[in-house]
Amino acid sequence: MKSFSLWITGAWLCLAFNHALAAETHALHHAPAPDHRSVLTLDAGERAMILEEMRMFLDGVQKMTGALARPDMAAVAQIARGMGQKMVHEVPPALRAKLPQEFRQLGLSVHREFDQIALDAGSLQDVSHSLNQLSATLQKCVSCHATYQIQTPIHADSH
Ligand code: HEC
Repeated sequence: MKSFSLWITGAWLCLAFNHALAAETHALHHAPAPDHRSVLTLDAGERAMILEEMRMFLDGVQKMTGALARPDMAAVAQIARGMGQKMVHEVPPALRAKLPQEFRQLGLSVHREFDQIALDAGSLQDVSHSLNQLSATLQKCVSCHATYQIQTPIHADSH
């Protein structure tokens, strides 16, 4: 009886493994899902400018989570302020004209929220409050990324 149930278990595991393998093979043979996000057509320099700001965001968020874990609320406030309105540089008019208003507003609201996170981290010194704010702001990063992609026309790279 015992060996029979072992056999059953073994057979089941085998089936489950085969199934997983088949699912993976299936996935590999599928074309990648089409990208339905709205396209922002920018030249190479404009794209580089936006992506640099994005990497600064990610760097800031990484540092902020480290400061929250220690916790060092003065550092949290300082890092958040660095991602606030003061991070918004003069956007060249040509680039500005290419960015939809919703895109710019979403970006600005993220900067405003980091300023609020900075203020609250200094005054409330409450890790869980700051984490809640950070999570809500990260939701905006997520939704913008789900909505937009940047494309650069090939000829824009050559000059
Ligand atoms: C207003 C829209 C918007 C917001 C808000 C936004 N991003 Fe982005 N981000 C983009 C777009 C557009 C790209 C390019 C995506 C593409 O072309 O596939 C991008 C790309 C990136 C990249 C890739 C950078 C590279 O060098 O390739 C990182 C990292 C990133 N974003 C981090 C963040 C983080 C973190 C936040 C929030 C704190 C954030 N972004 C908020 C629009 C946004």
